[in-house]
Amino acid sequence: MAKPGKVVTNDDLSKIVETNDEWISTRTGIKERRFCNEEESAYTLAIDAARNAIEAAGIKKEELSCVVCATVSARFITPSLSCIVQKELELPEDIPVLDVNAACSGFIYGLEVARGLLNGNQGKYGLVIGCEELSRLMDMTDRSTCVLFGDGAGAAVIKLVESGPYETVLGARGGYEITVEGAGPEVSHIKMDGKNVFKFAVDAIPKCLNSLLDKAELSLDDIDQVICHQANARILDHCVKKLKADPSKFYKNMDKYGNTSAASVPMALCELVNMGTVKAGDTLIMVGFGGGLTWAGALLKYGAK
Ligand code: UT7
Repeated sequence: MAKPGKVVTNDDLSKIVETNDEWISTRTGIKERRFCNEEESAYTLAIDAARNAIEAAGIKKEELSCVVCATVSARFITPSLSCIVQKELELPEDIPVLDVNAACSGFIYGLEVARGLLNGNQGKYGLVIGCEELSRLMDMTDRSTCVLFGDGAGAAVIKLVESGPYETVLGARGGYEITVEGAGPEVSHIKMDGKNVFKFAVDAIPKCLNSLLDKAELSLDDIDQVICHQANARILDHCVKKLKADPSKFYKNMDKYGNTSAASVPMALCELVNMGTVKAGDTLIMVGFGGGLTWAGALLKYGAK
């Protein structure tokens, strides 16, 4: 993963907009977030996260057969973030390299795109990145959004294996509840109808999780960790209660990073692996939800041979 250098606390934000640590912490679980400093951008974060993932996987660059990056906040529409990573890390040229926009569900959509691209490339690996520089898109006068988001990146190397379950659920309702107008001369800003997105999320997460479990013919007891998009601690608490689940299986790190959209799931995965909580052979569920009113879930084995 890659964490930008600038730590912004709730108290720091209370000096910019009318807000306070108490409101932000109790309503969202967020205590601080990280923003890119002057030397950093979505590009540097994506490159660092990708390099770390390749090193951690212990593979050679030549063994990669696709690069997929999920993002909504890259500075250029083209070249894609994936192409920048490819160039900077000198990855192979004769492979598909592309970005995916499915907002906060993006990393899981990216996994599925990479899985499709790996078909017919048995033995090869795919690099999937989730990377955001949302600080660039924030209206720092709008307290209803500027306290929520942060920058960051996470990445994973994937491989198709015969063993172990693999199921996905992907969908979208089509909606304008979260928007970023882009590519015009005006500065783009994130706008969000938080209340409606909250209702959508607490409905989508359990549905996603239950369909994955049904498809795999497993129960929550068979799952070692559920890694959800880190938008709001209350959303996850609500889902844990609804599912009568063990809360320790639902990792939370929004207190440190805020909502990093497509980066939140791979960042949480990387932290869990670094802490030794997720180990090779563990069965994981990942769930994303967000802009476009997309949702996505994946049930898979981490580190399966
Ligand atoms: O990543 C994509 C997915 N996104 C999400 O999942 C986000 C889902 N939504 C949420 O997490 C929550 O709806 C929010 C955290 C965005 C908002 O929480 P809420 O409990 O729904 O608050 P609200 O928007 O209903 O606002 C309640 C009050 C309002 O004041 P009044 O009208 O009751 O007087 C707001 O003006 O809180 C006020 N408020 C604030 N006060 C202090 C809104 N933002 C702030 C703030 N500081 N930053």
